[in-house]
Amino acid sequence: MKKTKTALFSVPLSKYMDRQVADRRSPVVNLLLFSLFLFSFSLSAQKTSIKDIDRRVEELLAKMTLEEKIGQLHQIPGDISTGTDVAKDDMLGQIKAGKVGSILSHTNFENKITMQRAAVGSRLGIPLVFGFDVIHGYKTIFPIPLAQAASWDMAAIEQAERIAAEEASADGQNWTFSPMVDVARDPRWGRVMEGAGEDPYLGSRVAEARIRGFQGDDLGKNNTLATCVKHYAGYGFAEGGRDYNTVDMSEQRLREIVLPPFEAAARAGSATFMNAFNTLNGVPASMNKHLVTDILRGEWGFKGLVVSDWNSFGETIVHGAAEDDTDASAKCLTAGSDMDMAGGTFQRGLKKALDSGRVTQAQIDEAVRRVLRLKFSLGLFDDPFRYLDPKRRTATLEKPEYRQVARELAAKSMVLLKNEADLLPLRSGGPFRKVTVVGPYANSKEGKDYMSFWTLGIGDVDHYDSSKVVTPAMALKPSLEAMGFEVTVTEICLDAACNEKDLSVAMKATADADLVIVCVGERGIDCGESRSVSDINLKYNQELITKIASRGNKPTVMAVFNSRPMTFSWAMENIPAILVCWQPGYEAGNALADVITGKVNPSGKLPVTFPVSVGQVPIYYNALNTGRPQQKQGQLWTSGYLDAPATPAYPFGYGLSYTTFAYSDVKLNKTKLKSGEVLEVSVTVTNTGKMAGEEVVQLYLRDLSADIARPLKELKGFEKIKLNTYENKTVTFRLTEKDLSYWNNDLKFKADPGKFKVFVGGNSRDVKEAEFELVK
Ligand code: NOJ
Repeated sequence: MKKTKTALFSVPLSKYMDRQVADRRSPVVNLLLFSLFLFSFSLSAQKTSIKDIDRRVEELLAKMTLEEKIGQLHQIPGDISTGTDVAKDDMLGQIKAGKVGSILSHTNFENKITMQRAAVGSRLGIPLVFGFDVIHGYKTIFPIPLAQAASWDMAAIEQAERIAAEEASADGQNWTFSPMVDVARDPRWGRVMEGAGEDPYLGSRVAEARIRGFQGDDLGKNNTLATCVKHYAGYGFAEGGRDYNTVDMSEQRLREIVLPPFEAAARAGSATFMNAFNTLNGVPASMNKHLVTDILRGEWGFKGLVVSDWNSFGETIVHGAAEDDTDASAKCLTAGSDMDMAGGTFQRGLKKALDSGRVTQAQIDEAVRRVLRLKFSLGLFDDPFRYLDPKRRTATLEKPEYRQVARELAAKSMVLLKNEADLLPLRSGGPFRKVTVVGPYANSKEGKDYMSFWTLGIGDVDHYDSSKVVTPAMALKPSLEAMGFEVTVTEICLDAACNEKDLSVAMKATADADLVIVCVGERGIDCGESRSVSDINLKYNQELITKIASRGNKPTVMAVFNSRPMTFSWAMENIPAILVCWQPGYEAGNALADVITGKVNPSGKLPVTFPVSVGQVPIYYNALNTGRPQQKQGQLWTSGYLDAPATPAYPFGYGLSYTTFAYSDVKLNKTKLKSGEVLEVSVTVTNTGKMAGEEVVQLYLRDLSADIARPLKELKGFEKIKLNTYENKTVTFRLTEKDLSYWNNDLKFKADPGKFKVFVGGNSRDVKEAEFELVK
């Protein structure tokens, strides 16, 4: 784990006090900077080093009773006014008695102050740490995480998390249950929206960016949040895409596909980890010693706290892997997990586990140490109210400039799947005058439809305000009218209640339109935890609405608001322009208008494969070749389907731009690579179209002669570049032997000598290639 820095400001004093620069500044600015220096100096002086923290932890631990220790391992959810199942009505009483270490999912600011006061008033005055699911923004709502990953823009993702951290920490939260780094290949799984998609390399880079954004360079600053990497591990591979379901996989898949983003997150310094709900090869993740103790703590050297998922200690009993609370407590603690979220299993079972010799006092102490260390690192012992300053809260939440960042990120996240005859962007003075914006998501009164489960289902009802969402109609109407279009907006019902009347409304609304923008997709509430589906088609009458609205051949743009890969085969064939918008957050409409009018040239790329039909699932780009790969649908004795192609609708990494990019041949600095050497893979990309644009240049690798079968392609690098018209840029990727290694039959990462191919392109399908050899 990265060490907490002792200096409060990472910019050295010399930078502030550089004489020459200082001379050029106005006296007011110099005074301001000098006071900033004094302020930083005084706070730095108060700051504690890791050694100090450890000393203070030991001193405190020595004073604690067993009950207080178990209290620190107990996290409770809920509402101070109503109490919860766990805390009943005596939440404050329990906090005062030192029986609670942490509160989660609480949004009321005043209540947090009251709770913290109660904690400070307890015998040892140990402050509470407040955890919250900050998933895609806290008050200012950004696009869903899967959408953010589609931007392939790490700086933009980091910036969004920085803002989320500013807001959440100003509202009293100091621990976010994020990032979710579960690699997911199954669009039926509702939680596919929370991660970075199907690829471990992209997932690792996104995990690091999120951690940088949330934790900054110093957890001790009061505008940062401790991150919690989840769900450790394998949760994204729930059988059948059914949430919470069984996960069974080879150690090789675990090491190569599932674990890399977790390892990257641990190495990036995430303060905490969260167990997963699922069993992994029969063992519930919360009591999985192989995962928690051997790999996370042992191999990766993670020193932080591991918290359960919601009652996942208790659920080991339901899995049938523990007999009762005592057994569950013993199994989870000895596996290496520390804090019990919401279940109360430790409260009921840990003392009995100690008394019966199933756990040792030293094991309990170690878990408590990790909780206390987190609280010290967050500066909570120095000032328990440092995240609860009402003035800072008012000054920080929902600053107008945050909306601009949300708008830019939402536009960057959108993925253009189809754009026949350059229908987009819409241009003034072109062949179209009358535009109709139609469909269930054109102007949904449920502004929440452009958000997600995470901004709907938790916290106080008024924590998120869906009336703050700019809907497509709200933004498209004025911006298109300003360009000289005549715009009408027609909403169509959203769900199963759609009936013939709605279809005739669509028919009428689009009758004399020159161009139709049809907004379809799925409801925000239909994704996220426990929102798995068996059908990923556009639901209800949405396909019919699209058919009617486009009347078979009317120029039509289909904007899809979705949280998972969806299938829309008819539209793929018949609609000239398709834009995946995901759930874009508060700035949904503005971002869409920016893309439709060409103010923003789309640059998003799919972080997950879009299948032709749900029957193709699992379908992902980094698959093995099989011994009988199919060339063409219907080819017998090959690996495919009689009634569907073996290839997806849109592959991983895919996304169009309003301009075009040409790739040169791939150049290598050598064709024989020895251990210790660097292979340079270069390609020159030229913008050959009529607009400036951004391209995500992707590097893939295939091992052709390993000791075991290796994937057809594996992403090993990417770079997002910006090119003006006719401008070109040479991108060079560097690979070493480590990048060629895989988890082999001796249970080690190792590269086999032999032939490899590298591929470079704008998606995982359309690539240029070159061959080289690893010689040993
Ligand atoms: C259960 C979810 O699985 C997890 O991701 C979340 O952080 C906790 N609930 C707390 O809300």
